[in-house]
Amino acid sequence: MDLNEDTITQAVLQRNATAASPRLRHVMALLVQHLHAFAREASLTEEEWSAGIEFLTAVGQTCDSKRQEFILLSDVLGLSTLVTASNHRKPRGCTEATVLGPFYVANAPELPLGADIAQGAKGEPCFVRGTVRRDDGQPVADAEMHVWQSDEDGFYDVQHVDREVLAARAVLRSDSEGRFHFRSIVPEPYPIPHDGPVGRMLTALNRHPWRPAHLHFLIHAAGCQTLTTHVFRRGDKYLASDAVFGVRSTLVADWARQEPGTAPDGSVMTSPFHTLNFDFVLARADP
Ligand code: BEZ
Ligand code: FE
Repeated sequence: MDLNEDTITQAVLQRNATAASPRLRHVMALLVQHLHAFAREASLTEEEWSAGIEFLTAVGQTCDSKRQEFILLSDVLGLSTLVTASNHRKPRGCTEATVLGPFYVANAPELPLGADIAQGAKGEPCFVRGTVRRDDGQPVADAEMHVWQSDEDGFYDVQHVDREVLAARAVLRSDSEGRFHFRSIVPEPYPIPHDGPVGRMLTALNRHPWRPAHLHFLIHAAGCQTLTTHVFRRGDKYLASDAVFGVRSTLVADWARQEPGTAPDGSVMTSPFHTLNFDFVLARADP
């Protein structure tokens, strides 16, 4: 009883102290302490508290089976990058991880090496190749590589309401020497969904919603840690101001523009195309 601004924090900590899970006790104690410290330090007014509740309510109301506004909020606050970075500290030389994002689809079609994964998505053709290796240099055969990307209009297949088929995404498997190659399209920069409360918050903070162009990769391989990452296009004007703080300089690569002629897969291209080479290094699960 008679709790005041000096005693309320301790009272809440005590009330939570008998939770069965030690991890829940620990995490909740930190959450309460930091939340109370924030309110004290900011001298939070009742109007501000109320505006915060309304904002979080709107974030929740914007979520449905296709839209996850809370993850978007975590992304633009840098929390997703913080959690990714602190959970994926890798040995030197390993490919860095970055955020998964909301456009991953678990049931993408598995296509053979060399396939055109664009499957009708629009954009300049691009031929991608590289290798998957472990951090001890051994090639990784049969790595399951999920790839997905935006099209020339900056949209993912799942954002096209008029299109049911999955496009510009696939699952590929590296060959016996860890090599992979596929044809796709050049990805373009795109704004994260910004027609909801998170977009309004970005506007209020004088921030833009753009992400630099990138390919997404999620790579599973036996004996290795799963890698969630992107490859970013060098020269993109949003590299230094990614709305979700996902860029790592080691993940920036050249999409080399080629004049019409013979493509790396032997096909004859009558218009310009691009080539991208990128090698992945996976951390071993139990080095
Ligand atoms: C993406 O790269 O697909 C993405 C990541 C975070 C927020 C929105 C989109
Ligand atoms: Fe993306």
